[in-house]
Amino acid sequence: MKTLLVTGCAGFIGSNYCRYVLKRHPDVTICGLDALTYAGNLSTMEDLEATGRFRFFPGKIQDEVVVNGVISSQAVDTVVNFAAESHNDRSLLDAAAFIQTDVAGVFTLLEAVQRNNVKRMLHVSTDEVYGSATESSFTELTPLAPNTPYSASKAGGDMQVRAHHIAYHTPVTITRCGNNFGPFQYPEKLIPFFITRLLDHKKVPLYGDGSQVRDWVYVDDHCSGIHHALLHGFAGEVYNVGSRGECTNLEITKRLLELLDRPMEMIKFIEDPRGGSHDRRYSIDASKLQSIGWQPEFEFDKALEDTVRWYVDNQDWWRAITSRDDYRQFIERYYGRYLGEDL
Ligand code: NAD
Ligand code: TYD
Repeated sequence: MKTLLVTGCAGFIGSNYCRYVLKRHPDVTICGLDALTYAGNLSTMEDLEATGRFRFFPGKIQDEVVVNGVISSQAVDTVVNFAAESHNDRSLLDAAAFIQTDVAGVFTLLEAVQRNNVKRMLHVSTDEVYGSATESSFTELTPLAPNTPYSASKAGGDMQVRAHHIAYHTPVTITRCGNNFGPFQYPEKLIPFFITRLLDHKKVPLYGDGSQVRDWVYVDDHCSGIHHALLHGFAGEVYNVGSRGECTNLEITKRLLELLDRPMEMIKFIEDPRGGSHDRRYSIDASKLQSIGWQPEFEFDKALEDTVRWYVDNQDWWRAITSRDDYRQFIERYYGRYLGEDL
């Protein structure tokens, strides 16, 4: 691995993965490709560019001219794909971009990997493709049963990966992780949305009774899991990434209130805007990745505390987003009728 193409490098996990790799591999150069959608930020990549070993290319993963151009001109030997439309709530409003990026974009990358003889591709997927867990945890053999337009588009991308490997022996591996949290997460996902609202003394909208369970993973554990699967996993295989971080949405919200010293009255229980598509529980069995030598490192409470501190210390980063018209418009459109005067 000498020249890595990281797609979705201006987003949450993609940028953290670039940081992770640049720190550990002084001999590696990263080409970052990102369409700079509402979720991608130039400011997120400032420290990456300062290393001198990161070069940014604006563009969409479904644009074959751009993708083939970067891979061939930069002699890319490894591709890690983070680029995606990634928010369930947005997918319920309009799923068209999800199909374009999460399915068609993955296909374009696979074709380019094959055409340019790239040595290995790692496709970053999600545990949400398995649908809602009942008693047991998801293994890589759990059937795919997505329940939202987002998770269905991710499952579609995974199926393209599977078929490309079987049909053409394309050297590609999939990882599927649970809900991430950490620095640089766009403030529409539960944890950064709630932290940033609580810092502004605004109420937080908890869907239903808050009893849904998510299996939380600190972003650096996800990055190390992806990197381990890239270096030590087999092509054609799927590896779940998880650190046994199951917790209800109510529990996590109470923890955030404690950390920010806010009262319980800041929770506003609202009718569930996801309705029947809201998965009740995610639960990950990551023993397959552990069996090839990976271990998560981060303790949940400490990582959550560090994440809260990051949002307290980096208000310029997130206020530049929350003050944008498109951000406010989404919050109003999606939450307006539930939050009313607490918007
Ligand atoms: P994000 O929304 O923060 O970032 C996505 C990035 O992709 C943005 O920078 C955006 O500009 C870029 N992008 C979107 N469409 C593009 C396109 N067509 N071409 C190029 N770039 C495009 O998402 P994230 O939370 O960092 O998630 C990254 C990946 O990890 C996604 O594939 C997601 O499905 C997966 N994942 C996320 C989580 C999580 O909890 N956030 C958990 C498991 C898996
Ligand atoms: P989210 O962070 O959007 O991730 P995902 O949909 O991928 O799990 O949501 C995490 C959980 O938090 C999910 O069960 C929905 C819930 N939730 C709320 O209760 N209120 C909110 O405002 C948001 C954004 C999420």
